[in-house]
Amino acid sequence: MRSAAITAVGAYLPERKLTNADLEKLVDTSDAWIIERTGIRERRILGKGKGSAYMAIRAAQQALERRGMPAQEIDLIIVATVTPEHPFPATANIVANAIGAKRAWGFDTEAACSSFLYALSVAADIIVAGRVERALIIGSDKMSSIIDYRDRATCVIFGDGAGAVLLEPTEEPVGVMDYLHQADGSGCVHLHMKAGGSVLPPSVRTVRNRLHYVYQEGRQVFKHAVVQMASVAEQLMRKHGLRPEDIAYFVPHQANLRIIEAAAQRLGLPMEKVMVNIDRYGNTTSATLPLCLYDYESRLKRGDNLILASFGGGFTWGALWLRWAY
Ligand code: ACO
Repeated sequence: MRSAAITAVGAYLPERKLTNADLEKLVDTSDAWIIERTGIRERRILGKGKGSAYMAIRAAQQALERRGMPAQEIDLIIVATVTPEHPFPATANIVANAIGAKRAWGFDTEAACSSFLYALSVAADIIVAGRVERALIIGSDKMSSIIDYRDRATCVIFGDGAGAVLLEPTEEPVGVMDYLHQADGSGCVHLHMKAGGSVLPPSVRTVRNRLHYVYQEGRQVFKHAVVQMASVAEQLMRKHGLRPEDIAYFVPHQANLRIIEAAAQRLGLPMEKVMVNIDRYGNTTSATLPLCLYDYESRLKRGDNLILASFGGGFTWGALWLRWAY
């Protein structure tokens, strides 16, 4: 049976670090509060004049180099992002042009923090259907471009970064095995960006009123994230008779260490089996999952069962069972 397997990963992280000590100078917060409530110590910030495509291009190029594959062999590029290079055209088209993926078609997905997981699922299905052979799925977000560095409730959480995976068909029992995604649009009120879209285009008023930034009711989002991320992963594991001992790693969206720990506990997984890098990068939205795979790649072996899970604005959430291919 044909399935779609990850055959390489790549990443790009800007060099500039924004530490908790730096944030103490910007807003009324403390290193101790941020570490205790979120688990974050520092995040990366991309310089002015560079956007999500800059990071996506570099992450994609690294994945291709590691596989030794020329960009011309890529059929499909999907960029998962909430901070696209421009409202249109798709960041995927900009990336394809820059890396020389001449025959690739592509588009962007936006499902807040679930963008990458949804993009990976869609791409895997397109490959399994036999429509394309090789796809690049990239999560790239310049969250610093939509964060209000006067709002202590959001500015301590988010960071910039990109991760990419190369997806290829295989007849072996590895790759994307199954996924389960859910959404609840009534959650929109708790986490969104008020202006900049078609209902409230940019104007002097929207800028003055600081409406082009992430608006988050943290406590509400936290409550739903803790329950839903674990619940959907649990449902997927139960469907396939996967027990905690069958799982090599749980790969959760990196939004808050307390959410990650609660989800792992509910799934019966010790923290040694949980990928965590939120301390170094914060919440990079669409990039958290590929950045986890990138950081833990050397510890993975062929056949390892991974459960990826996400929760984000929308609300959107989901889980994906992946068998590592190399
Ligand atoms: N430093 C110090 N104090 C702060 C800070 C800060 N940076 N931020 C908030 N506080 C204060 C609040 O003002 C509040 O004070 P009060 O009690 O006097 O009113 C107190 O700390 C507690 O505030 P809470 O919002 O209840 O803090 P909480 O423990 O919930 O942590 C956080 C806030 C980190 C935002 C948490 O709620 C969270 O992680 N939420 C989920 C985030 C998430 O999963 N988002 C989804 C993905 S993002 C996406 O999709 C784009």
